[in-house]
Amino acid sequence: MPTRQAPWPAPAPQAPSPQAPAPQAWPQQPAPKAWPQQPAPRPAPTAFPPATTAFAAPSSFPALTARGLTKTYGPTTALAGVDLAIEAGESVAIMGASGSGKTTLLHCLAGIIRPDSGEVHLATGAEWIAVSALGETARSRVRREHLGFVFQEGLLIPELTARENVAIALMLGGVPRQAAEHAATAALATLGLAGMEDRRIGQLSGGQAQRVAIARAQVTGARVVFADEPTGALDSQTSAEVMDVLLSTVTGSGRTLVVVTHDDDVAARCRRTIRLHDGRIVADQARSPR
Ligand SMILES: Nc1ncnc2c1ncn2[C@@H]1O[C@H](COP(=O)(O)OP(=O)(O)OP(=O)(O)O)[C@@H](O)[C@H]1O
Ligand SMILES: [Mg+2]
Repeated sequence: MPTRQAPWPAPAPQAPSPQAPAPQAWPQQPAPKAWPQQPAPRPAPTAFPPATTAFAAPSSFPALTARGLTKTYGPTTALAGVDLAIEAGESVAIMGASGSGKTTLLHCLAGIIRPDSGEVHLATGAEWIAVSALGETARSRVRREHLGFVFQEGLLIPELTARENVAIALMLGGVPRQAAEHAATAALATLGLAGMEDRRIGQLSGGQAQRVAIARAQVTGARVVFADEPTGALDSQTSAEVMDVLLSTVTGSGRTLVVVTHDDDVAARCRRTIRLHDGRIVADQARSPR
C-alpha cells in the first residue's frame, strides 16, 4: 500500500515507547461533534510514529475523521475547512442547501476525490488509513475493501440481474464468481428480496432496486456506508422502508452510515445531523433517532 501518514502531525519523529503517552487517553473524552466550536477537543496523539505505513487504531477511536478539508472548483469553494469525527455505529445525516458542499464532503470522506488540503482518516480495525494521502489506485482499493455506497440512482448495472449486481462487488475484490453469487443470494434474502435474484434492475420497483444497492454496499463487510440522497427518487413510504433497511443493516451491526439528504424525515432517523452552508459546518446536532 502507498504511504499512509499519522492522523495528526506528530511533534517529534519518534517511535512509540511504553512510556509514550497512550493514545487511549484521547477517545475517553466525548468526541467533538464540530471541532471549530471546540478548539481544543482532545490532546493530540503524540505516540504515533510519523509517516509509517500503518499503525494500530484503538477500537475506541472514531471510525472516520476529517480535519481542515478544503476543496475548490475554479472560482467555486465547495469546502471551506471541515472538521469532523464520526464514531463507529453512528448514523450521520449531512444536510444543507443545494450547492452547500454535501456531495463534495461525502466524496472526500469516501476517498472518491482528494481534498485540496486537509486530511481524512479511516479506522479499519487493525489500522488507521490516511485516505486523503493515497493515490487513485490505493483509494479505489480502500473503497472496495472498506466502504459501501448507495446513491440516488443506485448505480446498479441495468443489464445485470440483482444477484449479479451484488456479486460483482465481491468479484472486484477477488472472490470467485460462484462464491460471490452464493453470498449475494444470501444478502438479497436478508433484505427481503428472495426469489427476485434473477430479475434485472428494470424489473424491480425503486425501493427494491435500492435494497439491491444496499445489499451490494454491505456484502463486502463495509465499515462505513455512504449514501447520497438514497431515497431522493422514492415516495415517502418506500423512502421510510429503505431507511429502515439501511439503518438496521448498517448501524445495527456496529457499522457507520453517512447519508446526504434533503429530507427531514430521513435525517430524523439518524443519530446526528450535520448542516453545511457554503462549504462549512454550521450546525452539528445529536438526537435520539426515531
Ligand atoms: N466537478 C465540479 N466542477 C465544478 N464545480 C463543482 C463540481 N462539483 C461541485 N461543484 C460545485 O461545488 C459546490 C458544491 O457542490 P456539491 O455537489 O458538493 O453540492 P451539494 O450540497 O451536494 O448540492 P446538491 O444538494 O444540489 O446535490 C457547488 O457550487 C457546485 O456547483
Ligand atoms: Mg449533492
